[in-house]
Amino acid sequence: MAAYIGTATSRVDGAAKVTGAAKYAAEFAATGVAHASVVTSTVTKGRIVRVDASAAMALPGVIEVLTHENRPPMAESFEAYKDEVAPDGSPFRPLFDDRVMFNGQPIALALAETSEIARQAASLVRVEYAEEPHETDMFRRRDAAVPVKDPTNPIEALFAPPKVRGTPDKALAAAALRHEAEYFVPIEHHNPMELFAATVVVEDDGKLTVYDKTQGVQNVQRYLCSVFGMEADQVRVMNPFMGGGFGVGLRPQYEVVLAVLAARALRRSVRVVLTRPQMYALGYRPAMIQRIAIGVAESGTLDAITHDAVTVTSQYEDFHRQETGWSGLLYKSEHASYAHRLARLDLPTSCDMRAPSAAPALFALESAMDELAIALKLDPVELRLRCYSDRDQHEDKPYSSKALRECYREGAEAFGWDRRNPEPRSMRDGRELVGLGMATGVWEALQAPITVRITLTANGHAEVACATSDIGTGTYTIMAQVAADMLGLPLDNISVRLGDSSLPQSPVEGGSWIAASVANGIAATADALRDELLRLAQGTPGSPLAGTEPGDVVLMEGSLVSRRDATRAVSIVDAMRQGRVDRVEQVRSTNPSPDSRAHNAHSAVFVEVRVDEQLGVVRVTRVVSAVAAGRILNTKTAGSQILGGVVWGIGMALHEETQIDHRFGRIMNANIAEYHVPANADIHDIKVIFVDEQDDSNPLGIKGVGEIGIVGVAAAVANAVHHATGRRVRDLPITLDKVLV
Ligand code: MOS
Repeated sequence: MAAYIGTATSRVDGAAKVTGAAKYAAEFAATGVAHASVVTSTVTKGRIVRVDASAAMALPGVIEVLTHENRPPMAESFEAYKDEVAPDGSPFRPLFDDRVMFNGQPIALALAETSEIARQAASLVRVEYAEEPHETDMFRRRDAAVPVKDPTNPIEALFAPPKVRGTPDKALAAAALRHEAEYFVPIEHHNPMELFAATVVVEDDGKLTVYDKTQGVQNVQRYLCSVFGMEADQVRVMNPFMGGGFGVGLRPQYEVVLAVLAARALRRSVRVVLTRPQMYALGYRPAMIQRIAIGVAESGTLDAITHDAVTVTSQYEDFHRQETGWSGLLYKSEHASYAHRLARLDLPTSCDMRAPSAAPALFALESAMDELAIALKLDPVELRLRCYSDRDQHEDKPYSSKALRECYREGAEAFGWDRRNPEPRSMRDGRELVGLGMATGVWEALQAPITVRITLTANGHAEVACATSDIGTGTYTIMAQVAADMLGLPLDNISVRLGDSSLPQSPVEGGSWIAASVANGIAATADALRDELLRLAQGTPGSPLAGTEPGDVVLMEGSLVSRRDATRAVSIVDAMRQGRVDRVEQVRSTNPSPDSRAHNAHSAVFVEVRVDEQLGVVRVTRVVSAVAAGRILNTKTAGSQILGGVVWGIGMALHEETQIDHRFGRIMNANIAEYHVPANADIHDIKVIFVDEQDDSNPLGIKGVGEIGIVGVAAAVANAVHHATGRRVRDLPITLDKVLV
């Protein structure tokens, strides 16, 4: 039954990717395509007084320069611009009016016969502004930050701040030992490899085929219909491949609005490709100032924990997640409270970025736990075991599974944690100070409603179709694996179709929920297909499967086979022949059934750093990440997800920081030369362990691994840096100046 599930199957789309056959949004051919280049605002706040496009229009090869003044009609109400994951507020309407709300805002679109001419034309557009004062510094808005409102849509409700537990202030005051400190995570940007782009093809019948870089083709399709007043059958959105999403592609971005706007204006196909600097205005991980206070008993168990946060959003939408609640969830503590306020700044709205909320929050929590362990003279792993919580304390309910103890044990063993001398600065190797640190990671294990279609033909080939995306995580591959096992066919006989809004319903690919959702959907649809084949096979008198119940039959090696008696079997070909059909097709929608248990994935991360004592240079030389995430569908692609998360966690710890010149409200390092990310030389030995974890929340026991890999890594690095040097760095990134001070 499980020839493929659980194996290290290579990507089924690997060959297409490495040979260039896999096409991305900017690569689809369109006859007579007009190329576009975006003009962005050079001021942060105010109004556009005048746009002078005369020099641009005079350039040979220029077709048009679109602005808010000459664009075709688009919806006016903010409501029309709300997509399925929009936060509370009034969404940005690209090229809508003369208002400038952030630096780098798209304000005009130059259209030309080639992309080079378009780019030159864009550079010739002159804009006059009436500037207004702006604020982009969260520390100056800290006191004016507003408390988060109750969530207004189901997605936000998933991240609602938890209820206060007990009387944390009293408990803190009475605690035997208290630790209280402030931690800071700066604004960070996703920087997926593929540039954001949209190619809009105007078909002969006037319908639009839109190739867009997005994590949700159906989300974009509904949004476009809403913004442009189109019917669903007039626009089809496709994204068969995606060069990284990480959350910045969850909401429809402005490239697709501008491309459709231009296609409607010119009545011809249009391609918009953003530049790397322009992508810094699409969304970002909100900076987070957080204060954690923990009160402990002598025995090293927690009495109380409070987590207060300020995060960043725009002036027009209140994006946030449940950033503070992780603290009261992860460790046993009778008293807990949370406060979360938003600093509204003259920036674009912040957005989800890999493990939104947990990645920055756990930097603070897990740094604080390390500081507590030192104060209590306890081993950091031992402290976490003493505070281990077997129940979800927010709602006092059990976990469907939680093999975090095994993560600590297996991770520590693989890492060699027992060789650690607890004394800071005690482990030296030549001129390098060696430090060992660890942290816990936690993430949601979610599942969303989804619909899957499977078409099985008599030649034993199956097509599995769903409108989900594969943002680079390996969705094509796991879908093929699950379908192959459920249908009893070789992997090569499965073709997967996704990234097309005309396929059966899917939510956006995010939150690490697609693997569990789509695999479950495939299993249910394959069962329906088996039932139909069995009906066909039982249609003939004297059928070997006469009287067998569907549950007693499996699909195996191209046949329906009785579980009780393997000699009772009918081949798929014979079943179809008997039913006089050459194909069977089933479509099933699955919806996770309500469950009174908590669902989370966990990890334990162990890190070795070597710090040059004279220069303060930090190298992360070893990492072991032990992950408990239910059943692992594919150890290779899942391992790559964790590996990528760890690399990003190292970047978060040591490199990443979006810097704004607050005088101008402009990002200074909006490129991947000056926005530092880990390079090959920064990455050394990383070991990923999946601990055994049985979970029955869904038939295949899947939790998802897209995000858990980054959570806790930055804290583990910071804790290792403290162990190496005796320096506690509470504001990221840990640059050498902070280590040397
Ligand atoms: Mo993920 S941050 O939900 O793409």
